[in-house]
Amino acid sequence: MKILAGNWKMNTTFEEGYTLIEALKTELSPERLGEVVVVLAPPVVQLTQAIDLLIDYPEMAVAAQNGHASDSGAFTGEVSMAQLADAGADAVIIGHSERRQYSGETDRDVNLKTKSALAHELRPIVCVGEDLSVRKAGTHLAVVEAQLRAALDGIDGDLAENVVIAYEPVWAIGTGETATAAQAQEMHAHLRGVLRETYGELANHMPILYGGSCKPSNAAELFAQPDVNGGLIGGASLVAADFVALADLLQKA
Ligand code: PGA
Repeated sequence: MKILAGNWKMNTTFEEGYTLIEALKTELSPERLGEVVVVLAPPVVQLTQAIDLLIDYPEMAVAAQNGHASDSGAFTGEVSMAQLADAGADAVIIGHSERRQYSGETDRDVNLKTKSALAHELRPIVCVGEDLSVRKAGTHLAVVEAQLRAALDGIDGDLAENVVIAYEPVWAIGTGETATAAQAQEMHAHLRGVLRETYGELANHMPILYGGSCKPSNAAELFAQPDVNGGLIGGASLVAADFVALADLLQKA
């Protein structure tokens, strides 16, 4: 499975979200997408708008950008995985580096959220990635491996088949600087090997997405890597023409 996920972050009004989804519906026919599954992650207040607009478009799924690990309770301002599933979401982004950085999310939080998402039949898109100091120190493979192991701790193969991994080097997110295709492939192959240790053959079918300043001008080479199964796209997912171009590139890869 190839996945193109758009992380809109804290962008778009209702109207802008509507226009973007309508444009994608017009362009991205099932024939054009082929085996590419599109996942859109609008801000949570627009989740039901997206779900309603895409009700007849099973090839386009809707994800939340975050969710709480507890089903309900006194957590003012939070939205649970249970509530996201109840609203009709298909997936949820977990452990994005911006949440790790600005909201103090830990590997343990990521693990609990991933388990909660799976319990509610939401497909978790689990984000891992190193910051610049780690990359410069040359310990990126070990650091990201540890994030992955922690995120999936205690999750067995029956559930893991629904997990999507997104490798997003923090130094490449929103910076205009992308990992080279070789850097991406090195990490993706390493993560695949870690998954294989735990899940065996299933690891070959677990999508590993690349994210971080991925755009039409650099995506072809990234998507061509054997262990890159798609993209988690921030900035370029807000521009319909760019997102459509990325879907085409992924379909052809
Ligand atoms: P970017 O964001 O494409 O704007 O770098 C990617 C992400 O944070 O998911």
